[in-house]
Amino acid sequence: MASSLAVCRLHMMGRGNLVKCLQKVDTFLIRNIGTNVALQEERDGCKSLYAVQAERLDQAERSVLISCNSRTNEKKFLKFLSTHGNIKKYFFYESYGTHAVVEFANRESVASLFEITTIPSISHESLVPFKSRLLTLRNLGLDNLPNQLSGQQSHSQTTIPINQLIQNLSGEESMDQQIISLTKAFQLTEENSRLRFLVCSLLKDIAAAFFPECTIKPFGSSVNGFGKLGCDLDMFLDLDGISGRDTKLLKLGMSLEYQMKMANSERAVTQSILTVIGECVDQFGPGCVGVQKILNARCPLVRFAHQPSGFQCDLTANNRVAMKSTELLYLYGELDPRVRYLVFTVRCWARAQGITSSIPGAWISNFSLTVMVLFFLQKRSPPIIPTVDQLRDLAGPADKSVIEGNDCTFVSDFSKIQLQSNTETLEQLLCEFFEFYSTFAFKRMSINIRKGKEQNKPEVSPLHIQNPFETTLNISKNVNATQLDRFVAVCQESSWLVQQNKKPTPSAGIKGNAFAPWGLSSLLLPSQVEGIKRKGKKRKWEPASDRIKNLLESLKNKNQ
Ligand code: GTP
Ligand code: MG
Repeated sequence: MASSLAVCRLHMMGRGNLVKCLQKVDTFLIRNIGTNVALQEERDGCKSLYAVQAERLDQAERSVLISCNSRTNEKKFLKFLSTHGNIKKYFFYESYGTHAVVEFANRESVASLFEITTIPSISHESLVPFKSRLLTLRNLGLDNLPNQLSGQQSHSQTTIPINQLIQNLSGEESMDQQIISLTKAFQLTEENSRLRFLVCSLLKDIAAAFFPECTIKPFGSSVNGFGKLGCDLDMFLDLDGISGRDTKLLKLGMSLEYQMKMANSERAVTQSILTVIGECVDQFGPGCVGVQKILNARCPLVRFAHQPSGFQCDLTANNRVAMKSTELLYLYGELDPRVRYLVFTVRCWARAQGITSSIPGAWISNFSLTVMVLFFLQKRSPPIIPTVDQLRDLAGPADKSVIEGNDCTFVSDFSKIQLQSNTETLEQLLCEFFEFYSTFAFKRMSINIRKGKEQNKPEVSPLHIQNPFETTLNISKNVNATQLDRFVAVCQESSWLVQQNKKPTPSAGIKGNAFAPWGLSSLLLPSQVEGIKRKGKKRKWEPASDRIKNLLESLKNKNQ
């Protein structure tokens, strides 16, 4: 048989393609075919993020990403690949064409597959002799046969349009059920998570040209449990395994000639590393387009779109505090299911209300918003989650972690954490969240999840949220007074709306109005908060009266 798989060629593409690719992220579609991958694996509540990542990265190392044809015959495709070894999992998805993720049982199978791949020669494109695990299926004669990859065997996992979501949620039995359904509809799927780790692993193959023992790990919402389909892929280039960061004393014997040229600070080293890797990704990264090196940011990064997955990627190095924050958020999300549901719902609500945005600016970030929810949960009576200081006090010697002088220690053994008995429902918590932040003394107080108590503000920023590990920093320094006022106003409006829009009862005689927005679904309609008037120094909130009145009028009319 002639060589049938090709290593992906270089694509030289400009910003126009990046924009198109980013638009595609929102319409990312995964088609899940075959029963062996159909079931979402059970989450093991006791696994640390570290353990989950190790397992996922190992899966990714044994996987390949194949660009194929929507008319490819699935059975023959699998039969062909099986000649290289046992396939553990596979699935197909759509993003700039049809792709397959195939996980082999052993790494040797990937090597065997490479033996029959060719680098295609095409006159107008430059070639690079680099065999990536992003492959293209060509001329296998598997097209246009029965049992192709279309039709009933596939199912879509796109985020459904907001209007449809509102309608679906309106049909739920309770507000708790609405919150659970919203999370299920928008959270990352098993396949999407696998793809995220695979993209990290493909990137690692490129970085390994310079740093053979490096790893690239996802962090942020891709792994903290609060990620929504379409969220960016934050990646961390980990070189600690090579530099032996913890090795303090010079040992006798041989030492490496270890030098960094023209760099006099750790930040400068990070910038140099990212310059080199960024250039490599730009020049030779299959499927990586629109590469930008943003090296002067507080946290230097390389940003690009990975076309075959549809992910917007941010690659950072030496960002271990962010990795620790991710671990902390993950731990909180695993402690009590209400944490994840509430954070997820507040993040979706904030996005629907334009409180957060995918573009950086003066608005509240998802990270800050998450910390605000955690703080609120620490303030319940009794508290639903412990403070960071309490988690630090439970830590064992192996948990000790000091990064650049910051104490990032907290317990990793979930069984040591004793939770108090709080039985509040999701509905109560969401309503109380809006109440809490409608009246919070933002002017004077800082939000502090280390202590679980508000503290006097150390500086004048409109919103002050103490960074849980770099405690002198404010994670919401970017937020201006207008955005904070808007957040407060939308909390007030939502608190009011949710009280007014209880589930219509069947006895109210609803006719053909089973899907009128109520509860959570009414909170996802765009807010009309506009008039925030300042009289002297006092803020006065004016309800988005017309829209709300109309909404209530229509509900009342339909109920009569
Ligand atoms: P989305 O990408 O918006 O879905 O959420 P995210 O949690 O991934 O946020 P983002 O991509 O902005 O940041 C990724 C991770 O970096 C966060 O989860 C945090 O762990 C960390 N991070 C973000 N902003 C800050 C900050 O201001 N200070 C610190 N210390 N860490 C931050
Ligand atoms: Mg992110």
